[in-house]
Amino acid sequence: MFQERHALLPRETHDEAARYAFVSSLRKMFTVELFPGMRTVYQQRQLPAFEAKHGRAPNSVREASELMEKSAYYRGANIIGRAAQELLWDTVGESVERQLDTLDEAAKPRAGDLGTVRTNRDMEIPRYIDTVDIHVMPGNFHTELSSEDTYAGALYDRGVHVFSFGGLGPRNDGLGVAQAAFIKERFPDLKPRRILDMGCGPGFTTLPWKDAFPDAEVHGIDIGAPQIRYAHGRAEALGKAIHYSQQNAAATDFPDGYFDIVVSMLVTHECPQPVIRGIFKEAHRLLAPGGVTLHDGGGTMPHDPFDNLLMSWFGDNVNEPFSAGFKSLDYDKAFVEAGFDPGKIVRGTREPVYLKGQLPPINFIGAVKE
Ligand SMILES: C[S@@+](CC[C@H](N)C(=O)[O-])C[C@H]1O[C@@H](n2cnc3c(N)ncnc32)[C@H](O)[C@@H]1O
Repeated sequence: MFQERHALLPRETHDEAARYAFVSSLRKMFTVELFPGMRTVYQQRQLPAFEAKHGRAPNSVREASELMEKSAYYRGANIIGRAAQELLWDTVGESVERQLDTLDEAAKPRAGDLGTVRTNRDMEIPRYIDTVDIHVMPGNFHTELSSEDTYAGALYDRGVHVFSFGGLGPRNDGLGVAQAAFIKERFPDLKPRRILDMGCGPGFTTLPWKDAFPDAEVHGIDIGAPQIRYAHGRAEALGKAIHYSQQNAAATDFPDGYFDIVVSMLVTHECPQPVIRGIFKEAHRLLAPGGVTLHDGGGTMPHDPFDNLLMSWFGDNVNEPFSAGFKSLDYDKAFVEAGFDPGKIVRGTREPVYLKGQLPPINFIGAVKE
């Protein structure tokens, strides 16, 4: 699946395109063949050998992990998964760096823009972001190379498309489209005046809200200035009126009750539990009565040690140190502590928009403000 061209999207040379295609195939092979194959190896080879020796199955993640480490298939698949991730950023990064001046220039705000952009020179970057390159992405989402830098935004736009082998669609917006459709279906009478996408990154998950509710004022916030600058240029290039600002989702400068919908997508799995709780609390403050907040997540860590090991793969191998805390959070308690009524918690799943049947369903968790 090809990525839709727009004025901000980095262009690739012939050789870069060939490398993208290679990394994408490697990522796809890992995701749809090697990763699921770990279960076959466990069930057909490692588990029977363990049971024959101990008379029982592994009873902890550590035992399951030690058992799988004895398999050359498992060790090889892990190496390929990690190597594909590193190759991804090397490949896309080189291409973005080559044309960064052009991208920085194209993203600048101009008279007649449909939306607005606001960065904050004094933004304090929290330690959980500053100390870990999430997804092994060099510099994470926030590092700035200049005062007008868009590098991390452009890197993530091209990177996600290559990483997901196009599985999020031509605009990388599959998750945002699914989230907006979920809210429209579950709350057909909701007529939002203002909508906030927290941790919007390059805006993949922000634009679908403008499409779903064209009359609403749509805002996107992110802790990273390069994301915000890139997101603004991208939204203008795609003809969408969005208001972007650099803000911490757990402590924004919007007034109480300003929004009718407050969402995040792929943000909370990168945050420590106290930050997730802070985001839910801020969502409660920002919502008007009858407003809805919705986030991805709400699943639980499986009990079976091997399932648990597989679920922790990204956390363990590609720098997502907070994903285990995200999965084991007591969501009901977190929403109630944030101020929501226990009877107003919302849960649901939706099929992915693209590559149906190949990608897992998306879990949603949220709450309605009384
Ligand atoms: C994986 S990206 C998701 C981007 C977008 N929502 C999507 O699904 O494509 C996570 C984003 O959350 C942002 N982020 C993490 N913690 C944040 C916080 N406390 N406040 C605002 N943004 C945050 C990161 O900078 C990053 O851009």
